[in-house]
This record gives sequence, structure tokens and C-alpha cells, in this order.
Amino acid sequence: MECSLNKKIIIAIDGFSSCGKSTFAKNIAVKLGYVFIDTGAMYRAVTLYGVENGAIVDGVLNETKLIDLLDKIEISFKFNSDREASDIYVNGVLVEDRIRSIDVSNCVSAVSGIAEVREKLVAMQQEMGLNRGIVMDGRDIGTVVFPDAELKIFMTADPLVRAKRRYDELTTKGDIVSLEEIKENVISRDEADQNRAVSPLRRANDAILLDNSNMTIPQQMEWVSARLKSIIC
Ligand code: DC
Repeated sequence: MECSLNKKIIIAIDGFSSCGKSTFAKNIAVKLGYVFIDTGAMYRAVTLYGVENGAIVDGVLNETKLIDLLDKIEISFKFNSDREASDIYVNGVLVEDRIRSIDVSNCVSAVSGIAEVREKLVAMQQEMGLNRGIVMDGRDIGTVVFPDAELKIFMTADPLVRAKRRYDELTTKGDIVSLEEIKENVISRDEADQNRAVSPLRRANDAILLDNSNMTIPQQMEWVSARLKSIIC
């Protein structure tokens, strides 16, 4: 983009799970020299802590116990130059890989439906955006975290395309999972995200829709560059 990037804005990217929101958000942040925050990673980090500290046993969540543990969970990010993105830490321990396991994926919707969890994480997210110059992806960024974001994008893609993307990601890492299992997880998380009582997933009135079922990453970047030009140039 051929323009001066003095104006720092907030870019909110929301949408369904496994749409490639984080890759898209990270690429935009790298291009603009902005901070990128994957808020799904924060909900996953709380879920992992619950699994490892007895609040989630055999996939069953004890909500009261998790709420009691919340004060003990300190989440931080450290920039990893290899990935050009920040890794997530819980109480100083790197958890970037473990938060993506299928065990965590299966419980994270329930955890993200707890009002106390959202209150804690939303407050952290709002603080991270105080200086603007941030790209944040999640489910409620344009509606709750930054309703005043200058650019809001709502991403969607065909559920089967999304399941295949997540399947490829996990199997490349060596995880043993079936495409059917992943598809079920994607569909059930869509339902849970849209129907939960607290901050359900919904498109903000002023969010632009991006369906990337048949788009490559360079095509998505071209799409966003055109929109960014009119806002920050
Ligand atoms: O983006 P992801 O699939 O890693 O997100 C994990 C879960 O966290 C997902 O089921 C929805 C939830 N989430 C949320 O409720 N609010 C956010 N801002 C981000 C994620």
C-alpha cells in the first residue's frame, strides 16, 4: 500500500471458527506494523488451565470451580519473530501448541459462555487496544470489545471448507483426528457461538462481510488493501 501509515486504527475481525481469521489478521498486522491479538487463544488458554487444574474433567466443565480459578490465571503474550506473531503464555508458561488440541477445542465453547471469563478477557483486550494500531480477531470484537473500531470485518466460509482447513492444520502437526470429528466440532461450535446467552457471535451492523470459501490468502489481502486505503491513506 503506497501511503503514509501515520493514522493508527483498530481493525476488528470476527466470524465463524476456522475461517482463517487469525492468518488474515496476522497478515494485516505485519503489513501495517500493528499488534495482532488472537482472542480465541485467550479463551483456549483459560480452557487449558481448567483442564490441567481440575475444573474440566473428562470433558465436563465445573463452572464454579473454573470461576474460582480465574484469579490465578495470568495471560501474557510475547512476540515470536519466526511466526511474526505473539505466542501466548499462562503464568509464564508457553501454551501456544497445547491450546490447539482437540480436548481444548471440545470444551472452549462452554468456557467462553461464562460471563466471568468474558469479563476478565474483554477487559484485558480493551487495555491492549488503548494505543490503537491493533488487529484483533475473535467473535465479539466489533460488537463488544471495540464497537468503535474503524474497520470491522465479519468472516465466513463453507463449514466443510473450514473443517478441511482445520483437519490439514492438525494432521500436519501429527495429531490423529478424523475429518468427520473436526466437521462435527466446527458445526457444534458455530451453534454454540451463535446461541450463547453472553455476547453471542453476530455480525456488527457496520461490519463488512468476507466469505473466503474460494479465496486464496493473497486475494484476501488484495480485498482488504482496497478497504484500508480509503480509511488510513
Ligand atoms: O477462534 P478460535 O476457534 O480459536 O476460538 C476458540 C473459541 O473461543 C470459540 O469456540 C469461540 C470462543 N471465542 C469467543 O467466544 N470470543 C472471542 N472473542 C474469541 C473466541
